[in-house]
Amino acid sequence: MKLFLIFVLSYLLGSIPTGYIVAKKLKGIDIREYGSGNTGATNVFRVLGSKAGLITAIGDVGKGILAILIAKSTVTEPIWGLKPETIYLICGILVIAGHNWSIFLGFNGGKGIATTAGVLLTLLPYLLLILVFVWLPIVYLTRYVSLGSIISGLMVPILMILFKEPGEYILFGIVIAIFVVYRHRSNIQRLLKGTENKIQLPGKKKS
Ligand code: G3P
Repeated sequence: MKLFLIFVLSYLLGSIPTGYIVAKKLKGIDIREYGSGNTGATNVFRVLGSKAGLITAIGDVGKGILAILIAKSTVTEPIWGLKPETIYLICGILVIAGHNWSIFLGFNGGKGIATTAGVLLTLLPYLLLILVFVWLPIVYLTRYVSLGSIISGLMVPILMILFKEPGEYILFGIVIAIFVVYRHRSNIQRLLKGTENKIQLPGKKKS
């Protein structure tokens, strides 16, 4: 029962649509009808500016952190043959799934990057640090947030293999990579056609 409850809680926590709420509260708009239609921080930043984008990013990263902290403080020994670490990883998948396919938004939502960052920060901070150094230069040089996110997402399982993380972590990494590619389908099409939205960086000229 305990396991079922923390799994459901992780999904529900992820389902809280931070970007949707921020856009509604600050501007009274449905963020899904603007920009890329994504409810994540990138689109909120694009449509409503840096303050709203930052609030969304903090909320979305925070969901990932909170889900893992709740799991860690609730589960300290195996349940139904599942090791605590495996349970934390499943909670990580569920909080990201909740963000991507929110029960409060008709099973739609964001693309999972900020929430994945929150999960990784709490479980494998060294890995997140490496990914930040992959993501930042790609976004800075190309101004395609999606390209940075897709490449970083694909690197999660690769890094886990390179750093010899246990099998369940590699499996978790593979699921993350699949989620990222699947949720960025439209971005991939736009990138291939050369029509992807570029992000306007503060202090940089529009190109
Ligand atoms: O984190 C989401 C980002 O990778 C892409 O967002 O709004 O450009 O589709 P968006």
